Amino acid sequence: MNTHTDIEITQVKLTDIDLLQQIGKATFIQTFSDTNTEENMKTYLAEGFSKEKLLSELCDNESEFYFAVLKNDVIGYLKVNTGQAQTEQQCPQALEIERIYVLQEFQGRKVGQLLFEKALALAQIKAASFIWLGVWEKNLRAINFYQKNGFVAFDQHIFQLGDDKQIDIMMKKTVQPHA
Ligand SMILES: CC(C)(COP(=O)(O)OP(=O)(O)OC[C@H]1O[C@@H](n2cnc3c(N)ncnc32)[C@H](O)[C@@H]1OP(=O)(O)O)[C@@H](O)C(=O)NCCC(=O)NCCS
Repeated sequence: MNTHTDIEITQVKLTDIDLLQQIGKATFIQTFSDTNTEENMKTYLAEGFSKEKLLSELCDNESEFYFAVLKNDVIGYLKVNTGQAQTEQQCPQALEIERIYVLQEFQGRKVGQLLFEKALALAQIKAASFIWLGVWEKNLRAINFYQKNGFVAFDQHIFQLGDDKQIDIMMKKTVQPHA
């Protein structure tokens, strides 16, 4: 990959469910298996990325998934939620970034930046007043990424990974309406 201009951001369709499951599991394993027990990972992977769960998320009008595609290969993805689909009811006019993941070998090359810019554009189109997300307190790389993009911490909540209760820092960024 030479530059991020080779990458396309495309909306995930129902027929892409297998690819979505693959990239979802692969990036989750890469991100969290070093710091979590095998048992807890197994439980989360089975529940969080089951076909049933992905299908219901893909069918939800208030959730959207996007792939980052490089030469026909999916190398990252984004999931955003609005309205009732938000994992916590912040505000009906907010947009949540629930997932933003890039395969390890492609990290640090602005793929995450492209996915984030897609989320920002969606927030503007949907006239959301702010974007919010939860990030594991130990995921310093992601926290750095969000801070760089103008997010500030405003709260924290519990994320259940198997039997482990982890602290997620909640961050938000105000969205400027389209000029
Ligand atoms: C967080 C993540 C999506 C960022 O995507 P990315 O493609 O690696 O990031 P980008 O190349 O777009 O970098 C954008 C900024 O992020 C920060 N960043 C990127 N790589 C970094 C690293 N290795 N260490 C610290 N900060 C880094 C930098 O501030 C960077 O800006 P700069 O290059 O101008 O310094 C990606 O690293 C990832 O998928 N991580 C694993 C999954 C994850 O933790 N997701 C978030 C769950 S809440």
